[in-house]
Amino acid sequence: MEKLVLTGPTPLKGEVSISGAKNAAVAILPATLLIDGICTIENLPNISDVKLSCEILESLGAKITWNTKHSITIDTSNIITTKAPLDLTSKFRASYYIIGSMLSRKGDIEVGMPGGCKLGARPIDQHIKGFEALGANVIVENGKIKAKAKKLIGTHIYMDIVSVGATINVMLASVLAEGTTTIDNAAKEPHIVDVANFLNTMGADIRGAGTDVIKINGVKKLNGNSTYSVVPDQIEAGTFMLAAVASKGDLYIKNCITKHLESITAKIIEVGGNVEDYGDSIHVWCDKRPNKANIKTLPYPGFPTDLQPQMGVVLSLANGTSIINESIWDSRFQYTEELNKMGAKITAQGKTAFFEGVKKLSGAPVYSSDLRAGAALIIAGVCAEGTTDIYNLEHIDRGYENIEEKFRNIGANIKRVNE
Ligand code: UD1
Repeated sequence: MEKLVLTGPTPLKGEVSISGAKNAAVAILPATLLIDGICTIENLPNISDVKLSCEILESLGAKITWNTKHSITIDTSNIITTKAPLDLTSKFRASYYIIGSMLSRKGDIEVGMPGGCKLGARPIDQHIKGFEALGANVIVENGKIKAKAKKLIGTHIYMDIVSVGATINVMLASVLAEGTTTIDNAAKEPHIVDVANFLNTMGADIRGAGTDVIKINGVKKLNGNSTYSVVPDQIEAGTFMLAAVASKGDLYIKNCITKHLESITAKIIEVGGNVEDYGDSIHVWCDKRPNKANIKTLPYPGFPTDLQPQMGVVLSLANGTSIINESIWDSRFQYTEELNKMGAKITAQGKTAFFEGVKKLSGAPVYSSDLRAGAALIIAGVCAEGTTDIYNLEHIDRGYENIEEKFRNIGANIKRVNE
């Protein structure tokens, strides 16, 4: 079993470069199924979710050439089956994007129920509502989702909930539909804009991504024959920003889009940290114990739920008692039990947690319950006195490229050990 071993405390100092966005990449890869031809995708993060997405595409007939470890050329002109392998698709969340893409391209698809981080109930009713409104028949049974459509016809779809996944999935399903589809109450996350930009580069006609009304004018075919570079990862950049504050460090975070980081910047300033914004890089430093702050997670442009655990580490070390209200997921405070093993004083009740700030954390063996919890534990291990062993690394490897190398390069005493 692999574990990360950290010895701290260390103020993180230096430069770190941000990889391509996981949540954009895992949607753009299935979106290539809409193309009857070849395209090249660059700035892909080198993470296990990307490798899994590629395996699923290959099982459907796509031919993938790795140009570098961050760039692939993919030929999706010959799709040989409409049954995606159940074992692979049920391993992660974003496999549900195969449904929207394959419905649009082939009018038929069968996938396993999506897996992914266990953050509480993760229904897909809004995805299904969108597919059905476009004319598909969707059946969920025996751990599988089967969707079929003779023809998809553009329509008006109002999302009852602001959902990243449903917005992207319905957008994918509408690209080759007949006529215009309008998605109302759409999510606005940067990766939604990125998927729309990718599709438009390949020949789609999508307008309004990044606002809460997206219009998709159906086109007959996507020809591809273009190259697209994935947007920098907002959550990875935010993770390092918060690591700088928690460790009382000083980091230059390169290759990011600072516009996507405004809610995080605002909270860092509120807790007493410092931020200099250069547009495509950001300098974050903190030379004192953070102040308390209250956080409510919200859809973009609000404070992202995927940075809530990392912010939780900052607040567990803050001066005073802070409150985090998690408004997206039912079960996103599992990491607080691990932080408490390290000396934090956090009481989680349902979707609210109270962080009574402590002066220091102490190393302990801890378990990563999900991807972002894992990132939070690394930050906690950097800040803690003594040695922290972090287990369940498969979660972290799903979404962070070279995490220990990136942390080591900015001063963390971190190594991966095979026990
Ligand atoms: C995506 C991200 C995830 C992030 C989340 C919220 C990916 C691969 N994952 O997940 O990291 O935490 O956005 O920013 O991009 N909901 C429904 N019905 C639906 C769909 C969603 O009730 O059909 C609810 C969910 O239970 C949740 C909320 O809507 O409470 C938001 O979920 P959603 O935005 O869909 O999250 P994901 O796309 O799964």
